[in-house]
This record gives sequence, structure tokens and C-alpha cells, in this order.
Amino acid sequence: MRQSSNELKQRAYKRINDLKEIVASDPYRLYYHIMPPVGLLNDPNGFVFYKGQYHMFYQWNPFRTEHGAKFWGHVVSNDLVHWQDAEMALAPDQWYDKNGCYSGSAVVFQEKLYVFYTGNVKNEQGNRESYQCLAVSADGIHFDKKGPVIDVPPGYTPHFRDPKVFEKDGKWYMVIGAQTEEEKGEAVIYTSSDLENWRFKGAIAGSGLNGLSDFGYMWECPDLFDLGGKDILIVSPQGLAPKGFEFNNIFQSGYFAGDVDYERVSFNHGAFVELDRGFDFYAPQTTTDASGRRILVGWMGNAEETDAIQPTVKKEWIHALTLPRELESKDGKLLQHPVEELQLLRENEVEHADVVVLEEALTLPRVNGRVFELEIAIDAFYATNFSVAFGEKSSFHYDAKTQVFTCERGDFSGNGMETRHCVLESLQHVRMFKDTSSVEIFINHGEEVFTSRVFEDPNADKICFFAKGGQVRINVKKWHLKKVIEY
Ligand code: FRU
Repeated sequence: MRQSSNELKQRAYKRINDLKEIVASDPYRLYYHIMPPVGLLNDPNGFVFYKGQYHMFYQWNPFRTEHGAKFWGHVVSNDLVHWQDAEMALAPDQWYDKNGCYSGSAVVFQEKLYVFYTGNVKNEQGNRESYQCLAVSADGIHFDKKGPVIDVPPGYTPHFRDPKVFEKDGKWYMVIGAQTEEEKGEAVIYTSSDLENWRFKGAIAGSGLNGLSDFGYMWECPDLFDLGGKDILIVSPQGLAPKGFEFNNIFQSGYFAGDVDYERVSFNHGAFVELDRGFDFYAPQTTTDASGRRILVGWMGNAEETDAIQPTVKKEWIHALTLPRELESKDGKLLQHPVEELQLLRENEVEHADVVVLEEALTLPRVNGRVFELEIAIDAFYATNFSVAFGEKSSFHYDAKTQVFTCERGDFSGNGMETRHCVLESLQHVRMFKDTSSVEIFINHGEEVFTSRVFEDPNADKICFFAKGGQVRINVKKWHLKKVIEY
């Protein structure tokens, strides 16, 4: 028996209430990242600037720390930093979304918020059905479900989801993640003049299209926009085999840059570039705000089997979203910058200029902590290797001979170490955001980013610098960051 929206919501609120203290007692609870109040969070959804506020929705299973029939959780902010928990926006209570209100997006039209999401259904035969659905809100909080606006078109399997709607030259477009009957991942587009009637245009990109060879059996969470004179298609393909330092996580998220012809439905694009090189990043989504910035937020997690051994599960919650990052497109290459509002988190600034790092482990007065921002500007690199170790066993280092940058963390079993890498021509600048159990490292002003969860001794707070084969001269700034997520 399907439960009414009210019953579902009441059950979810009861669970939040019943488990409040257990969740709050977790030393790994984050200080300044969006988290679920209880249960499992995955993709960011419906990220939008509406009536002067930022709205962020997220895939949410309030009942378990596992995937299931998803709700849309909801938080609201004036500044992208202080987020207030809002009423849950969508519950899986209709025939067309009974097994999950899956990922989607939001746009503002005639002062209303139009939300598009995928209704996920397991039918009586146990087969998947998928509907692209619309819900409308006049206040950004209460949503009126209008039901399906798009069915799966011929030639595609029911792995057809994650509508991202945008306006271009006075028309509405929707890009959807798809799988063809030949099991190839694609991003397809639709157009509309009223947001209710949609016309299928075709595949804009996909495995085996536009000169791209085999590139995954399903593409999830597409996003399409222009930035700096280039069209950018962000997508999360599934089924890429690891290749050297690339595609080392179970699923990847990245982008193609090029030129879209919306009339002909063609996209002349370059190679796929991964957006993040860390362990925990997937399904990002962007929006623009009143200032015109293109801002990206991702899921600080991935579809890993290691979910069950993440320590927060014992405290009845799992996963978080990344910090918001402003995108810049430079000759088709995306740079990612933490949004400037994050400076609101800073307190207790410490600065050390002209620090010479040699072979011996160096610690600096008042440069330590478990929740901080650290900025390292490298003035001179006369060494073969430079490393920074933090916490109990996490670190990053750059090998100037091989030009390999490496991040290392303890694995979730607690028994081993694991690494992720990328190649960098040089190391000039590092900006690192450490929260209790996460780290986001922005390298060379957004050229590469490594995002990872780290679960280690919650009290370990050292930060140590080393060089090998010479010396490295650095300027260091460090701030403690405030606790702003209070729900
Ligand atoms: C990506 C994804 C989406 C889907 C959602 C379900 O992580 O699998 O494709 O809509 O999660 O929660």
C-alpha cells in the first residue's frame, strides 16, 4: 500500500527527532557542509537562486543509511554558507514516483519555482519505469506535483533520468541522462516553450557519438551551459575502466567542452575531463545566481560498496555535499574556485611568511587543527618533493621529478592506506578546506581539486610540512572555520 505524503513525512520527521541525539554525538558530523539530518544523502538537486535565496535540495533516504525510495531534502541560504533546514520538498507518494523522487533540477518561471525530477517506479513485474515529472511552488517551500511530462522515448531503456532544465535564446531545454537499448550512455535533449509540453530533439553526446569511442553504459546527471564562450556538458558516466591515474573511482564525473548547435542537435567537443581527482565526488550540479556566477556543488560521496563500513552509519547518517565552487572557463578548461562567501567562515587567522621547508618535519606555531582552511603559496621550489601531512594519517605530496601530485588517506576499513593522483606541471598554490571528516584541496587556483572523506582519530590535529632533495619556500595562512550547520 502506498503511503500518503503526510504519513511519509510524519515518519521521516519522527525519525529525525528520535535519532537527533545519536546523530549529534558523532565526532565526524561536519561543521560547514550540507548533511542529511538523518539517513542517506546523495546527489544535489534543484540548486537554484529564487527570490533572493539559494535553495539546495538533495537526494535523501530518511529511513536508512542505504539507498532506497528517495525524498528531496531541502536547505535554504542567503549566502551559500549558512544553511537552514527547510521542510522536505518531495516525498515518493504517487504512482509515478513511488520508488523514489530521483534527481532533477529547478528553474524560475513567472515568479514560480518549477522543479523537474525523475519518478522512479518498480512495477509489479519488478521492472523499472521512469517518468520525468514536474512540481511547481509559489513560495519555494511547498510543492504541487503536476505528474509526468515525459515518458521514455523509443530506443532507450528505463535508465532515463536526472532532467536538468535551462533557458537558451528564449527557449527552454532539458538535458536528460540516458541509456540506449544497445546499453550506451547518452545525454539527450528536449525543448519546450511552456515547461509543460516537451519535444524530443535527440542525443547531444554519448558513448560512440561525436567521435567518442566506448564511453560507458549509462550517463547520469547531465548539466549543459555556456561559460567563457564554450558550451560545457557535465556528465557522470558509468562503466569507464580505470586508465592510469584517471577513472580510479567506481563512477566518475567530468565534462566535455566544445560548441553545441541546438538546432541541429550536434556537439563538437573535446576529451572528457574529470572534475575532481579525490575519492568522494559524484553527480555535481550547477546554477547561476543574480551576479551571473556559475556555481557547482557535488555529492561528496560515490556509489561505493564501502558505504556500510563508513563510521557515520553507526550514528544513523551518511554522506554530505561538497562546498560550492565558482566555475571559470579558461580556453575550454574549467577552473574551480571555492565561492568567496566561504571567507565568512574564517576566524583566528595565523600567518607565517617566508617559511623554509627542509627535510626535517616542520610544524608551525598555531598551524594545527581538525577544522580549518589552509592556504600555501609556494614561492620557490628547489627540491624534488614537497609534502604536507595532516591529522592522523592523511597527506598530500608533489614529486617535481615525475610531476605527480598525490593525495593519501586511510581507507574506510581502518587497516590500509589508499592514494589518488594527477599530473601537474608545477605546484604553485594549495588551498585546503578541512572539516571534521572531509577534505577539499584546490590546487593552483582551481586547476585540479581532490575531494575526500577522511575518518581517523577525531582529535588528531597536527599539520606538518616536509621537503626532500632540497628546500621549498612557502607562505602559509591558516584559519579556524566556524560551525554553521546546526541541524
Ligand atoms: C546518481 C543517481 C541518479 C539518480 C539518483 C537516485 O547518484 O543514481 O542517476 O537520479 O542517484 O538517488
